[in-house]
Amino acid sequence: MSKLLDIDSISVSYGSIKALREVSLHVNEGEIVCLIGANGAGKSTLLKAIVALEPITHGSIAYQGQMIAQIDENGAKKKFGVPIRRSKGLSSNLRTDEIAGRGVALVPEGRRVFADMTVEENLDMGAFLVRDDELIARKKEEMYDFFPILGARRKQKTRSLSGGEQQMLAIARALMSSPRLLLLDEPGLGLAPLIIQDIFEKIHIINREDKVTVFLVEQNASIALKASNRGYVMENGVIVLSDFSTNLLENEKVRAAYLGDS
Ligand SMILES: Nc1ncnc2c1ncn2[C@@H]1O[C@H](COP(=O)(O)OP(=O)(O)OP(=O)(O)O)[C@@H](O)[C@H]1O
Ligand SMILES: [Mg+2]
Repeated sequence: MSKLLDIDSISVSYGSIKALREVSLHVNEGEIVCLIGANGAGKSTLLKAIVALEPITHGSIAYQGQMIAQIDENGAKKKFGVPIRRSKGLSSNLRTDEIAGRGVALVPEGRRVFADMTVEENLDMGAFLVRDDELIARKKEEMYDFFPILGARRKQKTRSLSGGEQQMLAIARALMSSPRLLLLDEPGLGLAPLIIQDIFEKIHIINREDKVTVFLVEQNASIALKASNRGYVMENGVIVLSDFSTNLLENEKVRAAYLGDS
């Protein structure tokens, strides 16, 4: 199995707060990998770092075998890949839109759909990198087939949708760009168990049938581990455990700390 995403020893700080400390992990092509951890562990920060919404201060991130972010020993960003036409020096890592253009889509925590737009307009926003109108129209129809509730509500303002429907819309919006790697930040957050189950079934189909590799972050460890091939456990910005998800589900430390067993 080849590594689609390879994160090597990255750190991220917010001022004096070290949110990630030399985190290493990888996601193989075709896998569903989860990252679990308590409130404030650094899970969202890691996803933001992958798509360059937060700058790394140490380490490197490779995607499809190519560096997309790297800090050298002197703490400066390195240049690579695309010709650099931007300002000199520090801005040479790939930008968020360039990373999206390579096939990485993030569904952010709290969904962040555009409440005043219709369902259809939200899907159009997800296709901002797609130039072909016919392809956009076809992708939208695919999304309406895959999430029938979105088809039924296509002309409705997004604010009228339930939380579960908004999460489905956020996922559909991310799929509009036909990503190869889908990053999901707490897809189950605030939703009822049956709705969470629906959403994870969709995630499985996206992975299995559309061959989209999935990296998902969850506070709900039980759901995340049952839905994934492998998992990482993060505490205070550090990876403390990694294993196949079936093993993590049996792990005593994981059971005590994250699965509510005593
Ligand atoms: N924009 C920011 N400015 C300052 N500190 C931040 C910022 N975003 C996050 N932090 C801090 O960084 C740490 C990691 O936060 P992060 O949001 O990555 O955690 P998380 O694991 O996603 O938590 P949750 O499960 O609550 O979503 C926390 O201590 C948080 O308070
Ligand atoms: Mg978070």
